[in-house]
Amino acid sequence: MNAVRSLAPARSRELPASCAELADLLHRTPLAELPEEEALRLSERHDAAVAGPDTDENEILRLLTRTFSRRLDIPEYYRYTGLHVTGWYLARREERREDPYEAGLLLLHALVTDLIALEEREAGLHETTVEEGAERVRRLEAVLDHLGGSPLGPDRTMASAELVRLADHDDVLVRDLLVVNRCSGFRRSDKHDEHMFMRSVQACEILFFLVRWAARRATEAIGRDRAAYALRIGQFASAAELLNVVFHALRTLTPELFMGFREATGSASAVQSLNYHLMELVVYGYDERKTETYGRFAHLAPVGSPLLRGFASLRDAATGAGDADVREAFEAGEAPLHVWRGRHYGFGRRYLPEMTGSGGTEGAGYLKRFVGKAGLASGDRIDDAEQLLTRFAFC
Ligand code: HEM
Repeated sequence: MNAVRSLAPARSRELPASCAELADLLHRTPLAELPEEEALRLSERHDAAVAGPDTDENEILRLLTRTFSRRLDIPEYYRYTGLHVTGWYLARREERREDPYEAGLLLLHALVTDLIALEEREAGLHETTVEEGAERVRRLEAVLDHLGGSPLGPDRTMASAELVRLADHDDVLVRDLLVVNRCSGFRRSDKHDEHMFMRSVQACEILFFLVRWAARRATEAIGRDRAAYALRIGQFASAAELLNVVFHALRTLTPELFMGFREATGSASAVQSLNYHLMELVVYGYDERKTETYGRFAHLAPVGSPLLRGFASLRDAATGAGDADVREAFEAGEAPLHVWRGRHYGFGRRYLPEMTGSGGTEGAGYLKRFVGKAGLASGDRIDDAEQLLTRFAFC
């Protein structure tokens, strides 16, 4: 399967010189140590790029500097992860009428391929030992393998491994992947292992989006189109399983390595993730137990909006369809999400024993409460508020 590692963004057209220079600077600077006046200058550069004409250079400068904006009210998690760049890439695919699921897989592929190259280059030079580094690469290659087997849309006869090979010939796509790679993944610390953490978070975010997207499509197909349901629930299951494959790779980050950069990440907690909470809403329905959490972050307000809560969850639609095949396919596809929550709680316990979470919760205990998702309410409409329910969400 290593053949599909060829989609390395490095072979495409370079960025404009000013952007390439800034990207290099941001990739080599531990951002937590950036002097105040330098951060302010980057915020001003963002304002200038936003006010300037829509050139290629300005578009990329906006992506590179958004994180530093003092004008925009950006939740800390989004400043840290730079998910606006993922949002930009997916919006570009939408403009070109490309399939969001395929686009997500390709981005995941590019990010993981880049991470493998980084790990291979850095092997043994930093905190990670040679064996840990080799094991991490093996586990990341398992992500690529799993990606290669993900089911594609109805008009595709090939496997997704072939999709990666084809994408290699699409100059616009390869350039956009290069832009994502160069405009995101900046570390706050000088620790090599933060790359693994940061890219894992980004990979999970893409997967939260793919799970949600496929879940919406599956919900719509129930009672209308069996073949479409089979395809979408297969995509849902594959993306859910991938979350666990990513977590397996992340386990190569020991608690000691994690603690080496945790402080630099500040209050950037994925408890602020809009994609995650929307995914849960679409799959399970509204989780009343989290009302207090949602209420702490203004940008999470849509999760509790009566409009979105009026939609049927995939679980309610699948279990209420009176069709054992539909229900069983949902249950099989959902099981990996349950496993993911359990493993995530395990992360909390292993990495932050008796410590509060960076999102202001009690930490692992918070995660434990939500491993089970039984009995949540959802509505009965299945028409789509397309924008919020099926697009990549970021702030
Ligand atoms: C060392 C690895 C990790 C540890 C120790 C960890 C720990 C935690 C903790 C303690 C919380 C509770 C909220 C808080 O106060 O911050 C949390 C929430 C969360 N984390 Fe992680 N996490 C890890 C990796 C990840 C990764 C890679 C992702 C992928 C995006 C992720 C996604 C989330 C999400 C979505 C929530 C909110 C969960 C909910 O509301 O049910 N975590 N995490």
